[in-house]
Amino acid sequence: MAMKVALLGCGVVGSEVVRLVNEQSGELAARIGTPIEIGGIAVRRLDRDRGVDPALLTTDATALVTRPDIDVVVEVIGGIEPARSLMLAAIKAGKSVVTANKALLAEDGQTLQAAARDAGVDLYYEASVAGAIPLLRPLRDSLAGDRVNRVLGIVNGTTNYVLDRMDSLGAGFTESLEEAQALGYAEADPTADVEGFDAAAKAAILARLAFHTQRVTAADVHREGITGVSAADIASARAMGCVVKLLAICQRSEDGESVGVRVHPVMLPVEHPLASVKEAYNAVFVEAESAGRLMFYGAGAGGTPTASAVLGDIVAVTRNRLANTSVGEGAHDTGLPVHDMGQT
Ligand code: HSE
Repeated sequence: MAMKVALLGCGVVGSEVVRLVNEQSGELAARIGTPIEIGGIAVRRLDRDRGVDPALLTTDATALVTRPDIDVVVEVIGGIEPARSLMLAAIKAGKSVVTANKALLAEDGQTLQAAARDAGVDLYYEASVAGAIPLLRPLRDSLAGDRVNRVLGIVNGTTNYVLDRMDSLGAGFTESLEEAQALGYAEADPTADVEGFDAAAKAAILARLAFHTQRVTAADVHREGITGVSAADIASARAMGCVVKLLAICQRSEDGESVGVRVHPVMLPVEHPLASVKEAYNAVFVEAESAGRLMFYGAGAGGTPTASAVLGDIVAVTRNRLANTSVGEGAHDTGLPVHDMGQT
């Protein structure tokens, strides 16, 4: 039986999720052991061509998330409402939920998590921070036995793009921001990027996972964006062997009893690993007591990379749903043969 997905939103990320599910349907089915199908897509308006089957579109999101044949609800509309109410309705109806909604998770992730726990369903949100980079599950799961002391990250692609263009090409702030918007990196309202709200939301989510505390919200994050960074600031940083980066900094206090989270422009020495992160790429540097220093790097924004993370979560929740009938890794071998790589 197919795993049916309801999609809330069909913009830059949502339309890519649909394309990837359709293009890779055979491969995904072989890998997971059951097909994944898009069962419906809730949109605000029906009169726009989104490159998806129009028969799947509906403006009745509430009906879609509670439809009995739907197994997984994927939320990519962003913002607080109606996203929160729709996800809560889906969870209450026993659906697993996948979301990329950093603003909502940072503001009220606790409510969603408590609801998911009570309903015994999954809530996955890998795409909410640093797009395609596998980061949240490694922090939550792989490092669960370690003690993370500090997380430093470039987690907003738009501002990294703008700062990089200003630094490497001497480009202006406004033209660089317009380019980032045209490339699909910026938020609908780019104020969220340039004023650091987007990075602050992601920093709150990172801090919660890294330090295993539900208490951090976006409101706890000291925040300063990049609108005050001038061409002269960037040139002076260069003259001192530094680059300017907008960093999210999540840190355990020295006594280990509290955590602090902040987002602001930082002058980084060019030899620091985060200084070489160009364009809209993201990178997150984690300092853990036993694992040491770890760096996660990759595409942090853009439709296709973010859709990769969403699809990864869809596969994960599908596998969890099938867990009772599955016998673990290797149960659904695709049979892909090995070819000879020759001598090097
Ligand atoms: N506007 C965000 C960014 C999109 O530029 O990083 C990805 O969350």
